[in-house]
Amino acid sequence: MRFSELLNDAPEKEPERQYYYIKCAAELLKEKEAELGRKLTCHVTTFGCQMNARDSEKLLGVLKEIGYEEVESEDADFVIYNTCTVRENANNKVYGRLGILHGYKKKNKNMMIALCGCMMQEPTVVEHLKDSYKFVDLIFGTHNLYKFAELYTMALLNKKGMIIDIWKDTDQIVENLPISRKYPFKSGVNISFGCNNFCTYCIVPYVRGRERSRKPEDIVNEIKGLVADGVVEIMLLGQNVNSYGVGLEEKVSFADLLRMVNDIEGLKRIRFMTPHPKDLSDDLIEAMATLPKVCKHMHLPLQSGSSRILKKMNRRYTKESYLELVDKLRARIPDVAITTDIIVGFPGETEEDFLDTMDVVDKVHYDSAFTFIYSKRTGTPAAAMEDQVPEDVVKDRFDRLLALVQDHGHEKTKSFEGTVQEVLVEEVNEQDSSLVTGKMANNLTVHFPGDPSMIGQLVNVKLNCCKGFYFIGELV
Ligand code: 5AD
Ligand code: SF4
Repeated sequence: MRFSELLNDAPEKEPERQYYYIKCAAELLKEKEAELGRKLTCHVTTFGCQMNARDSEKLLGVLKEIGYEEVESEDADFVIYNTCTVRENANNKVYGRLGILHGYKKKNKNMMIALCGCMMQEPTVVEHLKDSYKFVDLIFGTHNLYKFAELYTMALLNKKGMIIDIWKDTDQIVENLPISRKYPFKSGVNISFGCNNFCTYCIVPYVRGRERSRKPEDIVNEIKGLVADGVVEIMLLGQNVNSYGVGLEEKVSFADLLRMVNDIEGLKRIRFMTPHPKDLSDDLIEAMATLPKVCKHMHLPLQSGSSRILKKMNRRYTKESYLELVDKLRARIPDVAITTDIIVGFPGETEEDFLDTMDVVDKVHYDSAFTFIYSKRTGTPAAAMEDQVPEDVVKDRFDRLLALVQDHGHEKTKSFEGTVQEVLVEEVNEQDSSLVTGKMANNLTVHFPGDPSMIGQLVNVKLNCCKGFYFIGELV
């Protein structure tokens, strides 16, 4: 098969075009296997959030369809890094690990290395890779991930240099491409892509583009298919799930979507990530309160407790309105688990601003919180702000905040001791194979005696003993 023939015969329409390339790539791979006398292996490494984890399942779906065998090790014939760039250290991790991949590639002349994801949407990153990481075969971004089969085929046929294909934005959503799920019983489901909020510290709107929603019928059909395939829990994914509906012809809110998904027979649990406090409607609270399948867990990113800093962050709520929202949520759903994200050291944050954050944390008593040190992301408005906070001050505040959220986390966790909770069994315990590990609706973990046949089942477990952030329990 010749390169030019391949290009000429490919259908224009998606996803047919990608299935065409998968077929071509599969043939090329078979030839390679015959030549080497062995199967070819692949590995997908995910950095970052659940959106990336879901994207990686799409990449792996294509690779398996082409004929690769997935392996645990990065010493494989095809390795792809699906990158994150939300904080500086995410980028550093990738550069560090690329050095190790280069070592593998020197030993295996068949090896191909690909990079994709948010970090690739930054022009400076791609320039740096072009200059200093010439051994990389393929680079693409977040907007053309659906073209992976096509890009892979190009890279396979390309004998010299890197293939680089980065798009600035797209409004295209391609449905029905292959997916290889990590877990048989639970799955992420994209409901929207991109973000229109432009929080001033955040790089996501620049690397993931404008917000676009999948059609509700596509979402529902995907979930029905997943349920038929054994999935009992889904997590609806979007950068800002509760502004779902943006750009759709029909008017469907996130709460409407939850109601549709709740009606799907056989589905047991619905989670979602991430809502924005500014868009949290009464209707959504009502949906969570009344829909039996929706887990009573709200991840409600605070970012800062200071109204002054929230304004500089462009979050569009205040300390007071956030606290009112939490009160409203707890009044309607008393047993709701509330978790959050907090950034320490945003430019201009004073001790007084930080104490406002501590005050909100104290008042809300989160079930758990992800705490982050502010990371300057080039290109965001906050990166150009004056009075960046000195490192030692930030570190001191971070430690104080972490101690407080951990105290509350322990307290909250302990309050469940002795109760019986419904648990989704997820895996055999890594340390002790006589135990299985499961998750409650509020996302807490429990280990209890069991066997692999229980994986994927919802069972009732008594939480006998609290061990900090998890429990040891027994089946009841
Ligand atoms: N620095 C530190 N944390 C950040 N986040 C997003 N951008 C930054 C940044 N520049 C955090 C926010 C967000 C979470 C996913 O990552 O808290 O909610
Ligand atoms: Fe970033 Fe704000 Fe969008 Fe979340 S809502 S992805 S923090 S810009």
